[in-house]
Amino acid sequence: MESHKKLLLANKAWAADRLSVEPEYFEHLAQSQQPEFLWIGCSDSRVPAEEITGTHPGELFVHRNVANMVIHTDFNMLSVLQYSVEVLGVKHVIVCGHYGCGGVYNSMTHKNLGLINKWLRHIKDVYRFHERELDSIPEFQSRFDRLVELNVMEQVMNLAETSIIQTSWKNRLLPSVHGWVYDMKTGLLKEIASLNHESHLEDIYQYRDDGT
Ligand code: CO
Repeated sequence: MESHKKLLLANKAWAADRLSVEPEYFEHLAQSQQPEFLWIGCSDSRVPAEEITGTHPGELFVHRNVANMVIHTDFNMLSVLQYSVEVLGVKHVIVCGHYGCGGVYNSMTHKNLGLINKWLRHIKDVYRFHERELDSIPEFQSRFDRLVELNVMEQVMNLAETSIIQTSWKNRLLPSVHGWVYDMKTGLLKEIASLNHESHLEDIYQYRDDGT
């Protein structure tokens, strides 16, 4: 059997299984969604958002891209962010990176990878912001792990620097923004950064109603 057909068969079995537990499962789910969380994660196949957090359909609003980036000109990410914050009213936004991330790894090399250079450039910028700390770590693997963490922290800051998050903080004191890193070797997540409406933002990034 061709491998993609196995997915369709598995889907039939899954749907039947859900119905056997709760006959109205899909009818209920189809009516509306009210997820509490927006998940911004890496596209890596080994970091499945729902599975590693024990969540079910309806619980996570998900955006994934290479190296879990929050780039302030990315209309795809911004549309997901705006909809989930302003319409769905999520209470938490989680940026989840992972050790061993291929995007972060490649940003540390001098390889010319064509189009994706432009995406990875943003991680090279993170390296430059933290050059002194990173260059002081002699071993590559530890430097790589640290860049994964710093990249998550920078993406958390990038979220706080959007008018979408700042306006929501002003109006409803939510969402809180979390930076997590997933360790594929243990299956465990750890929180490395967290911001909320009381967090201090560098002055230059603050939007104010009177524009001053
Ligand atoms: Co990755």
